[in-house]
This record gives sequence, structure tokens and C-alpha cells, in this order.
Amino acid sequence: MKRTFGKILVGTAVVCLLSVAQLRGQQPKPLMSDEAFKNVQALKGIPVNQFLATMGFISASLGETCTDCHVGESGGSWARYADDTPRKRTARRMIAMVAEINRMYFGGLREVTCYSCHRGGERPRVTPSLADLYGPPHPDEPDRILKEGPTKPSADEILNRFIEALGGRERLGTVTSLAAKGAYKGFSDLDTSALELFARAPAERTTIVHTPNGDVTTVYNGQAGWTAAPATDSPVPVLAMTAGDLDGARLDAELLFPAGIKQALKQWRVGYPTTLDDRDVQVVQGTSDGKYPVNLYFDSKSGLLVRVVRYTDSPIGLSPTEIDYTDYRDVSGIKIPFRWTVTWLDGRATTELTSVALNRPIDTAKFRPPPDPPNSEKK
Ligand code: HEC
Ligand code: HEC
Repeated sequence: MKRTFGKILVGTAVVCLLSVAQLRGQQPKPLMSDEAFKNVQALKGIPVNQFLATMGFISASLGETCTDCHVGESGGSWARYADDTPRKRTARRMIAMVAEINRMYFGGLREVTCYSCHRGGERPRVTPSLADLYGPPHPDEPDRILKEGPTKPSADEILNRFIEALGGRERLGTVTSLAAKGAYKGFSDLDTSALELFARAPAERTTIVHTPNGDVTTVYNGQAGWTAAPATDSPVPVLAMTAGDLDGARLDAELLFPAGIKQALKQWRVGYPTTLDDRDVQVVQGTSDGKYPVNLYFDSKSGLLVRVVRYTDSPIGLSPTEIDYTDYRDVSGIKIPFRWTVTWLDGRATTELTSVALNRPIDTAKFRPPPDPPNSEKK
């Protein structure tokens, strides 16, 4: 994300609490939507990261950008997101309506979402589309845990083949740390930013992106995770990960040490083979939480992992994150993807590595919670 946002004021008390917990290296209680923002009525009491994911979900469901609903000035100031507009009021009523539909008709399960009706448009369509009906089918991601699929090859066989394709279990097992340098480019960024990546087996991973506005640091230490970003990029200086974000961050870290991939997820299943960009792929599904799937796509020819799709839950919808891996290169006899693109509902970014060093000692400090960025607003 690269925008010129202003900043949003975060109460002193909240900032202090966060810092004390950080000094102890623990996951602080996540900052809640109604603590961080000024005019939250419908989505109170949810962590800020989930609240922002909800905004991404709403935007994607309606095919709108943030300022279609919020005043134009909010593009330059987080505080102005608090202003109400007629559209925003309608959206708030819709949040209440959807909660009511789910409560009344679906036993409180989140079956109906904004996307159920809106399908990427401002106004839901009333008439089935003949073009859709007779046009080519959309490839859809399975966002439910598969009930059935082919029995051959088994998930175990596909995963073994992947491990072999990377260099074999034994060689992969000798990798205990990874330090890399590269470049990061967000969807709307004009320029790339320098990136550093540090990881230790089995599941610690830190990235630092040196953006023109300041560093964006994302840390997952095996249990807890945080993103620290300058005020231009985030309404709060340090955003704690919760639930699905944590599962996702853990998986991203574990996939850097794929000798243990089978332990990274549970309830492995195989889906029907399909194609991605005209390439035949095998689909394997696992889950972190037993509720939502993680879909892994392996190139049928090379056996290499080409895509991961995972989901994070929020009160109003399930949000997908897709990671596409390419450019596998040999580093000390094992294959490592040098390029990957992460796509989520309100952003997309590509990382390209330029150098990778294995098994160099990495300072534990790299996996500590990030301090507030220097240019963050503190009052
Ligand atoms: C379709 C309308 C809609 C779109 C599009 C939308 N929002 Fe919102 N936004 C809302 C509503 C409604 C609220 C108030 C929620 C509540 O009352 O709990 C809100 C509240 C907010 C707030 C809290 C402001 C405060 O201080 O109270 C922020 C920050 C925010 N949105 C950011 C975003 C961002 C960033 C995007 C783009 C990714 C976005 N919104 C897209 C409808 C929208
Ligand atoms: C049950 C179907 C349904 C669901 C679910 C639904 N909407 Fe709507 N929404 C509608 C309809 C129908 C309209 C158009 C009403 C009209 O034209 O007067 C609409 C209109 C809107 C508008 C006004 C668009 C404009 O033209 O200015 C907004 C904003 C909106 N919805 C937001 C949401 C959000 C946010 C959610 C999820 C929390 C949601 N809707 C879920 C049916 C739905």
C-alpha cells in the first residue's frame, strides 16, 4: 500500500500498554476497533487487523475503492475515515441487515455475506446473466474443506514428490536459517523497495521493507506476530496479528523450511487436478484450524509448489490470500522460489529475491516485536 494518508491518533494509554507487553516479548491484547477508531458503531470489539480486513472485504464485495464510501479526504488522512457519508450509512445498515439474516435464517452462522448479493457490484443484479450462464466457467477456489477427491496419487505422495523436487528431505533438513535480500513492489507502488528477509526453522520469519515512507516490518516469532508500518500505510503503528493471520504467518514461515511441510497442516486431502495458466496442477488441501482450508497447487510436471490459497475469517466474511511462487533457483543444492506474488482483497505485492544465504546465525532480536516506527503518531 502506498498512499499519502495522514495519521490517526492513538490514545496514550493504549500505546503504553502495547509497549509494556512488547518489552516482555508477549503478544499484547490486540487493539480493538472501537479503541483505535472514532466512529465505530457496527463493528465494535474486533481487533483492528480484522476491522481493516473487513473494509477490504466490503470493498471487494462491492467492487469499490475506499473513497467510494468514505469522503475523498480520507485518502490523505486516516482521521477522515470517521466522517459519515450516505453510502457509508447504507453500508452500516447493510452490516446490520446481514447479521440479522444470518441470525434469523441460518442459526447465527455467517452464511450470507455482502458478496452473496453484490458479487463485485454496487447494486446486486436482479436477473441471472445469460453471458455467465453460457460463457466459460470461472475457476473457483474451494473455500470449504473438501469432502471427496481422487485417491491416487495421495496427498502424501504429492508432498513427497515436492520434497524430492526441492532437493530431498535429508538436504532440506540441514537448513536451519535463511537470510535473503531482494525487492518488494506493491500493486500501486511506482518503485520497488529494498527488502530483507530473515527466517529460522521451524517457524520464525521477519521481513523488513524499506519503503520511501519508512520501514514496514512484519515479524512472526513462532507464536505471535506483528506488523509495524509508518502512518502513511497503517492507522496504528504496530498491528498485532490475530487468529487466521497468525495461522497464515506461521505457514509462510514453515514453507521456508519445507522438510516439515507435512506437519505444517493437518487433515490433508487431495482435490481434483486442474490448470493454472495452462499448466496442469495437482491440488492438495490441508487446514490449520480445522475450519477453513489451505489449498496448495503443485505443478504436475516439476512437482514444485506454485500456489497457496488460504483464508482468514472476520465477522462479515472469509477473505482469501493467494501466494504464487515462481523462479525456483538452486541454493547450495536445494531449490528456493526467488519470486512470489501475494494477492489479497485490497492489495497485491511481489517480492523478488536477489540473494539468499543459508545457515548463517541470525540474531534473536530480529524476531522480537517491532518497536513503533519513528514517524508514527504518538500523543
Ligand atoms: C461500502 C462502503 C465502505 C467501503 C468501500 C469502505 N468502508 Fe471503511 N467503513 C465503512 C463503514 C460502514 C464504517 C463504519 C463501521 C462501523 O460503524 O462499525 C467504516 C469505517 C472505517 C474506518 C474507521 C473510521 C473511524 O475512525 O471510525 C476506517 C479506518 C475505514 N473504514 C477504512 C477503510 C478503508 C482503508 C477502506 C478501503 C480498503 C474502506 N474503509 C472501504 C464502509 C466502507
Ligand atoms: C440480501 C442481499 C444483500 C446483501 C447480503 C447486502 N446487500 Fe447491499 N444492497 C442490496 C441491494 C438490493 C441494494 C440496492 C438497493 C437500492 O438500489 O436501493 C444494496 C445497496 C448497497 C449499497 C448502496 C450502493 C449505492 O448504489 O450507493 C451499499 C453501500 C451496500 N449495499 C453495502 C453492502 C454491504 C457493505 C454489505 C455487507 C455487509 C451488503 N451491502 C450486503 C442487497 C444486499
